[in-house]
Amino acid sequence: MEKYYITTAIDYVNGAPHIGHAYEKILTDIIARHYTQRCDDVYFLTGTDEHGIKIQKTAASQGISPKELCDMNSQKFKDAWKALDIDYTKFIRTTDEDHEKIVQKIFDKLLKQGDIYKHSYEGLYCQGCECFLNPKDLTEDGLCPDHLKKPEVVKEENYFFKLTKYKDAIIKYIKSNPTFIVPEFRANEVLNQLEDIQDISVSRAKSNVQWGIDVLSDSEQSIYVWIDALSNYITALGFDTENPSETFKKYWPADVHVIGKDILKFHSIYWPAFLMALDLPLPKHIFAHGWITIDESKMSKSLGNVISPTSVLESFNLEHPDAFRYYMASSAPCGRDGNYSDDDFKEKVNAHLANSMGNLLNRTLSMLVKYFDGEVKPEFKGENPLAKKALGTVQIVKNHFDNFEIAEASQEIISLVDAANKYVQDNAPWTLAKEEKMIECGQVLTNVLDIMCIISALIYPYCPNIAQDMARQLSFDLKTKLDNLTADNIKCGKLISKEDIKPVFLRVDSELADKSVKK
Ligand code: MSP
Repeated sequence: MEKYYITTAIDYVNGAPHIGHAYEKILTDIIARHYTQRCDDVYFLTGTDEHGIKIQKTAASQGISPKELCDMNSQKFKDAWKALDIDYTKFIRTTDEDHEKIVQKIFDKLLKQGDIYKHSYEGLYCQGCECFLNPKDLTEDGLCPDHLKKPEVVKEENYFFKLTKYKDAIIKYIKSNPTFIVPEFRANEVLNQLEDIQDISVSRAKSNVQWGIDVLSDSEQSIYVWIDALSNYITALGFDTENPSETFKKYWPADVHVIGKDILKFHSIYWPAFLMALDLPLPKHIFAHGWITIDESKMSKSLGNVISPTSVLESFNLEHPDAFRYYMASSAPCGRDGNYSDDDFKEKVNAHLANSMGNLLNRTLSMLVKYFDGEVKPEFKGENPLAKKALGTVQIVKNHFDNFEIAEASQEIISLVDAANKYVQDNAPWTLAKEEKMIECGQVLTNVLDIMCIISALIYPYCPNIAQDMARQLSFDLKTKLDNLTADNIKCGKLISKEDIKPVFLRVDSELADKSVKK
């Protein structure tokens, strides 16, 4: 694998980030980090989506300019991603000057080649979706099914994109590439939507929407937010209609766009059509994750249950974001909805990260110090009964990541941890030491430590801080590529002293957590 280009959806900046936005960025960061363990060149793009009527209205309601609102909130997203150790390559803002210029050129090109035409139109616009809705998709009360708000009747002369021209090609592409849309069960939804698609409006009258990129040849019109937003995936790399950059040529097509299920239509119908019109290859995968609910209810301002990701870190007094990352990433099978609850969070991270994984390392290293002064002797090395399961797990985890099964992969890692714990329990090195079977005792400990190195590598994408603490105590190089992992990782000689043993994860303090105040 030469390169891996992965993107997230770019978030609207009409509010601060919540844990739904965080879920997506965590999943994407985990996938990106996993692929750094398989290839040398991973490009991870995220950013913010800053134009449109929604942002214009929010800014007006706060008495500030749209640009001020964007600057303020975009920074909140950056700060949150920093706190969550989201290690992106680039953060794009759709108000970046170079992005705006290229979007204008893209629109101009499509207009000149006849894929965009002018047309008078009356339709139902949902601000939440930033799109026109088909009357047949509304609820019985005439509301947008996603936002439960009445769409606004808009009558304008707009530019239209000939989506219908690309319908057959998109259907063919989806049918002949069964892994284009992940999970596969969503492909049918998309194919159904394709059945009755129409050409789409791709501009708004400046008189109604001022906060947008101007159409180059028509200053009365601003470019529709979804062309602007979707183009970020190529403008970020330096795409240009005349002279695309070397970076673009190297990374495009994207290996995967990670997005929420609510915006699948835009990514699997509109975006492929725009790309076909630009004569560019399509992304390899669109991975639509599910939604995060809070205590089983939809997160919403009106319910007052919107949780910011940093408030979770603060209320549980976490020194790093690993537990939250692990919990979020393992909260739902591929593409399904997940749920956040304080109690479940505590229970799961205490059980998996503290009791199973952290304690195993701590106990094993402590016994190595107690019985052997922290030294691994050559006679401790031999056949490792855990090797087969461990190396098998590496393969299984890789396969899961290839299918974007991030929670499923985490379960496999924990099952390896459980197997190692069982091995320790079954072989009772403390009894072996009591019986003075010191070589056997040393073998058991070394076997576990060798496997802990593999576990540190596998858990690294989810818990980079914990993995680094583990690897340090094991003198293991975390930069080892997954394909180069063996079951022989621990070097003979003095491994560790008592004072260097450090628990990698402390149980989440339940009293403190109970007092948690959600912000
Ligand atoms: N700006 C558009 C995306 C443009 S991509 C070219 C947008 N923004 S958003 O802020 O509304 O959503 C950003 C991402 O967060 C989307 O992928 C969306 O699905 C995801 N989530 C928003 N709320 C969510 C949950 N409650 N749970 C999980 N993800 C959710 O759409």
